[in-house]
Amino acid sequence: MSESEPTSPARPNIPRHVAVIMDGNGRWAKNRSLPRHAGHRAGVKSVREVVETAARHGVEYLTLFAFSSENWRRPEEEVGMLMSLFLEALRREVSELDKNNVRLKFIGERERLDRKLNDKIRGAEDLTADNTGLRLQVAVAYGGRWDIVEAARSVAGKVVSGEIDADAIDEGTFSAELQLGGIPDPDLLIRTGGEQRISNFLLWNLAYAELWFTDVLWPDFGEAEFESALAYYSRRQRRYGHTGEQLEAVKC
Ligand code: IPE
Ligand code: IPE
Ligand code: MG
Repeated sequence: MSESEPTSPARPNIPRHVAVIMDGNGRWAKNRSLPRHAGHRAGVKSVREVVETAARHGVEYLTLFAFSSENWRRPEEEVGMLMSLFLEALRREVSELDKNNVRLKFIGERERLDRKLNDKIRGAEDLTADNTGLRLQVAVAYGGRWDIVEAARSVAGKVVSGEIDADAIDEGTFSAELQLGGIPDPDLLIRTGGEQRISNFLLWNLAYAELWFTDVLWPDFGEAEFESALAYYSRRQRRYGHTGEQLEAVKC
């Protein structure tokens, strides 16, 4: 492997899987003396633009962090408004996503979402299940630690029922139980809004992701910034513990 080696055979240097922490909506609104929800609303346009740009560049998987396990701690009014916005965005965007051959999947603690939103989520997943284009994962009520604990619970259940032997548990069997089971790990993590932290996003899956941070606030993020992140990614040498020289030798 080397800097010039493609991750995806068809698209040299394009990450197969991009994960995004969409942060900065509140500050975007505050800068304009608007209520926080105006920032969340403005952020929907960025989602549309990023989905389109990712698909156009041949990214196969895009995973967006929309609402974390910890975001339940926000004022009730903001949480309620965000849930209404998710519902509204689904109502407005799903048919277009379907037309564009996007396959939608939601990850997170669905039991905490209300019935209307859960119905819409299930409907969107069913409608797009056979699509063969970009695979879009939206993380709502998602926490990386929650995900790992749930996977552990699931593996433990299989051991207790005798389906698997405890000694047979390995990274593969464990990661298959995670919310993104069966999906390759993100190659690139983008975080907008200036913070340089993971905020309990995909703790297991991001083990070897390249990290790209920008001060741009999510509602201002679009095609140009996404392409800057792709350009950054294309210059990285992914060593996975090897030395650079080892990788150069394989290349020759
Ligand atoms: C990200 O924007 C959206 C969610 C976390 C739901 P924020 O609402 O966190 O925006 P800032 O960080 O306060 O600017
Ligand atoms: C992370 O943003 C979660 C999402 C973007 C959905 P936060 O704004 O909640 O993160 P912290 O609290 O600043 O770490
Ligand atoms: Mg924030």
